[in-house]
Amino acid sequence: MKTLIILAHPDIKNSVINKRLLQEALKEPQRFSVHDLTQVYGGGDIDAAREQELIRAHDALVLQFPLHNFSCPPILKSWIDAVMTHGFAYGRGSDGIAGRKVALAVTAGIKKSDYCPQGRYHFSLREVLTPFELAFKYYFHADYRDFFAFYGAEETPGVDYVSSQDDLERGAREYAEFLRNLG
Ligand SMILES: Cc1cc2nc3c(=O)[nH]c(=O)nc-3n(C[C@H](O)[C@H](O)[C@H](O)COP(=O)(O)O)c2cc1C
Repeated sequence: MKTLIILAHPDIKNSVINKRLLQEALKEPQRFSVHDLTQVYGGGDIDAAREQELIRAHDALVLQFPLHNFSCPPILKSWIDAVMTHGFAYGRGSDGIAGRKVALAVTAGIKKSDYCPQGRYHFSLREVLTPFELAFKYYFHADYRDFFAFYGAEETPGVDYVSSQDDLERGAREYAEFLRNLG
């Protein structure tokens, strides 16, 4: 099985978490291809036909991104809007996404304990990610496989996000397992 990881990070060179997580996928290039939207498109137009062809050439799709303002970076929203078109992702006879395995891999600066009703941000990450689940599971009829999350250690709200090396290594191992279990 071949999995396509759509990476939506504005600056992967200066990333800590997403860069480390990706290294796990890059260890097995025969199973995982990484498609970096910022590198391919920058601020330019997304080539929907090319992206749809890429998706069709894979069995599973993982959308990997850092949370920005409780959503995905804008390039991923543009990608979804451009690529998940009528006839491909939804509508009569559409077969681009229906039944295909789709998962999310999300990195958060905020602690897991703050993503809950008693926490600082009141809502769970699952609730924050509802629009993706709604779209892929219920609108595009993908075989939605839930999400992998790396939670950070937010020190000063909205300012300092600090994760230890141990946390990062544990996250990388868990991500590798999550990817393998998609198959
Ligand atoms: C503009 C911006 C907005 C952010 N918004 C959120 C947020 O809404 N929730 C959250 O948990 N972390 C937020 N963060 C923290 C990032 O998600 C975190 O730094 C990132 O996942 C770390 O991954 P990286 O090292 O690959 O960049 C934000 C960071 C930036 C720069």
